[in-house]
Amino acid sequence: MAEKLLEIKNLKQYFNPGKPNMVKAVDDVSFDIYRGETLGLVGESGCGKSTTGRTIIRLYDATDGKVLFEGENVHGRKSRKELKKFNRKMQMIFQDPYASLNPRMMVKDIIAEGIDIHNLSSSDKERTDKVHELLETVGLNKDHANRYPHEFSGGQRQRIGIARALAVDPDFIIADEPISALDVSIQAQVVNLMKDLQKEKGLTYLFIAHDLSMVKYISDRIGVMYFGKLVELAPSDALYKNPLHPYTQSLLSAIPLPDPEYERTRRRKEYDPAVHNYNDTDDLQMREVAPGHFVYCSDKEFKQYQAQYKK
Ligand SMILES: Nc1ncnc2c1ncn2[C@@H]1O[C@H](COP(=O)(O)OP(=O)(O)OP(=O)(O)O)[C@@H](O)[C@H]1O
Ligand SMILES: [Mg+2]
Repeated sequence: MAEKLLEIKNLKQYFNPGKPNMVKAVDDVSFDIYRGETLGLVGESGCGKSTTGRTIIRLYDATDGKVLFEGENVHGRKSRKELKKFNRKMQMIFQDPYASLNPRMMVKDIIAEGIDIHNLSSSDKERTDKVHELLETVGLNKDHANRYPHEFSGGQRQRIGIARALAVDPDFIIADEPISALDVSIQAQVVNLMKDLQKEKGLTYLFIAHDLSMVKYISDRIGVMYFGKLVELAPSDALYKNPLHPYTQSLLSAIPLPDPEYERTRRRKEYDPAVHNYNDTDDLQMREVAPGHFVYCSDKEFKQYQAQYKK
């Protein structure tokens, strides 16, 4: 397999630590992200997907754990210069294309923000040329540069958000539910644009989503989160063919398929954490049931999963 671009090691993000309202939003999560891949991250609302992304990119300081980017800990002590370097290499695209663009800024200035911060152009002309090129890269045109966000549709705004992220020539982009707020008819266009850009620029994505339907289409591998824990991580096909954790099975059972026969018999499987029947002595951890297919489980479950794995 390819080179590890990021290694997330025992990452924890606890909000209000030590207080009665403490939330373990990310609770000892470890995984790698390979250069050039798309890693999907799914799970229900509040399970910690955004917090994972935001902590990786250092929008939040980690409570504990490490995030290695090209082998260097993003969360270690850093000079301003080093921090700037990471900020440039890791960018984020947000869910709400309405809230994430400053309504009082012209599109050219929104897109050029990173160019200005990182001094990536030596003249106004170069800055303008870069903005025009970026607009075209995301399927807009240079006439859009002098307009304001409210003059654009949701899909177009998301394209502006993508252009803004691309402006600093990043290696890694976290897309936090980039299509959830868009019309279904526009979703595929934005996903296809992201796929094309990935191929063209060798980008690595962490693609966060609520449900598994669109994620399968874009992801090489998928991680499933439940209450701050990563409970399953596998290549996309393997996750669909052999969903092992009962929570993953529940998520999959929620996806409608364009097959009337299947739909007639489809039953939403509810996840009940009590099914595991864990003891205090169970050594719960991520275990590799098949090559590249990890499940958070006890040793006893591990043996059951191995036995039921469909080759
Ligand atoms: N800044 C914060 N302060 C305190 N608690 C927070 C903060 N941000 C998130 N949380 C809590 O952490 C948990 C994880 O939230 P997070 O936003 O990461 O979930 P999510 O999986 O992205 O959900 P969604 O699908 O709704 O976006 C939730 O319980 C949330 O209430
Ligand atoms: Mg979120």
